[in-house]
Amino acid sequence: MLEVRGIEAAYGSSQALFGVDLAVDEGQMVALLGRNGMGKTTTIRTLCGLMPARAGSLTFLGEDIGGLPAYRIARRGIGLVPEGRRCFPNLTVRENLLATARGEGWDRAAVARLFPRLEERAEQMARTLSGGEQQMLAIGRALMTNPRLLVLDEATEGLAPVIRHEIWAAIAAVKARGQAILIVDKNLKDLLPLSDTCVILEKGRSVWRGNPDDLAADADLQDRYLGL
Ligand SMILES: Nc1ncnc2c1ncn2[C@@H]1O[C@H](COP(=O)(O)OP(=O)(O)OP(=O)(O)O)[C@@H](O)[C@H]1O
Ligand SMILES: [Mg+2]
Repeated sequence: MLEVRGIEAAYGSSQALFGVDLAVDEGQMVALLGRNGMGKTTTIRTLCGLMPARAGSLTFLGEDIGGLPAYRIARRGIGLVPEGRRCFPNLTVRENLLATARGEGWDRAAVARLFPRLEERAEQMARTLSGGEQQMLAIGRALMTNPRLLVLDEATEGLAPVIRHEIWAAIAAVKARGQAILIVDKNLKDLLPLSDTCVILEKGRSVWRGNPDDLAADADLQDRYLGL
């Protein structure tokens, strides 16, 4: 479904990616891992068209998406839950969801079943929501685009344990519907059991790819690349 090959990217003269490879198949969940500053967000920004790839290729559903503007990549079916959530602060919950609505499957009723709290707060401004509620809204907003691939950057960062639990349950439910997912999160205990494949980044390069059981069982690998 998605194939990222050898991508390089830079912020001005400061290169951040030096060769990232990863692939996501239909119905799969791929975890993108690595310590702080290793290039996870930059990889996601590049594949969503939010910054250019200087080298390498990006193929989605058999077509080259490298160089397309972000809105076109979104229309082709990549739905992003960005780091920091980025809900539209001065729109209500309902308006945030309607703003991106497209296609069939995920609609407001389906999002309300996934996150009942959002429905209770439908007329509340997004800026007045708690962090956890904003994350639910960011996920709901991405689902409203009915993406072929859902991308989550820091799915549960900074959230209280009880809210994290709700978010993981929702991600598991979304995955169970066959949704392909690319996800970044530091909470391996919740992330690995749901994932089909892991890709580790180190200083802007993909350095390891494998299955989550092998990573969970390998303390050296975790220590070397994840600082655990
Ligand atoms: N706006 C920016 N301008 C310049 N350099 C940046 C910018 N954003 C990120 N970088 C640099 O690019 C590199 C990769 O950062 P990136 O945000 O992709 O890492 P990350 O793996 O997502 O980290 P984290 O786990 O902290 O979210 C880092 O060296 C970072 O300092
Ligand atoms: Mg990041």
